[in-house]
Amino acid sequence: MIDTITYLKTFLRDKNVASITPTSSVGVKRVCRKIDFDSSSLIIEYGPGTGVFTNYLLNNMKPDAKLILIELNKNFSSILKKTIRDPRVVIVNDSAANVLEALRNCRESQADYILSGIPFFWLRNGLRDKILCNTYNALKIGGKFLVYQTCFQTDQHLKVHLDRLFPSVSCKFELMNVPPMRIYEATK
Ligand SMILES: C[S@@+](CC[C@H](N)C(=O)[O-])C[C@H]1O[C@@H](n2cnc3c(N)ncnc32)[C@H](O)[C@@H]1O
Repeated sequence: MIDTITYLKTFLRDKNVASITPTSSVGVKRVCRKIDFDSSSLIIEYGPGTGVFTNYLLNNMKPDAKLILIELNKNFSSILKKTIRDPRVVIVNDSAANVLEALRNCRESQADYILSGIPFFWLRNGLRDKILCNTYNALKIGGKFLVYQTCFQTDQHLKVHLDRLFPSVSCKFELMNVPPMRIYEATK
């Protein structure tokens, strides 16, 4: 409930938030079941908001794995800095477009998984393409880009852009979330 009020207030000031409520715990589990936590040493999350995915990831990640959070909204970034106190986490207040710079600053080269809740349908084509291209380069061979988008985002066409870069892309409609969402799984 507190999270929903925070989302609503933040959404009214920043359209990039694109949601008035965090993803449900069922939705979080449906996306994260695609992750092999035992073999992951680096995960990146774009648009963590107040951290619903972050907490699930931290509960399942290995003790020596690392998680980089890239959040554009200043309010959400400062909430994350206050609430997430885990030595495995680095919080970056920036755009996902700058993921390669974030990796360099963390002295890392490529990630096993990148999760994204950012609203691709809001983005200018140039920004969308930059994020997708840099995401591809930020992943290891065999690494996965997992994207979740609410069903209100009529961006079936995101698959077309993922298909241009990734050798394997699947898209699934997930009804067990409020609201229902699409989950894309793109493998490098
Ligand atoms: C739909 S909310 C998802 C929040 C949360 N992950 C969840 O599942 O409830 C989208 C989030 O993406 C962030 N965002 C939007 N554009 C971004 C960008 N270019 N780079 C990083 N974060 C971005 C927003 O500030 C917001 O936190």
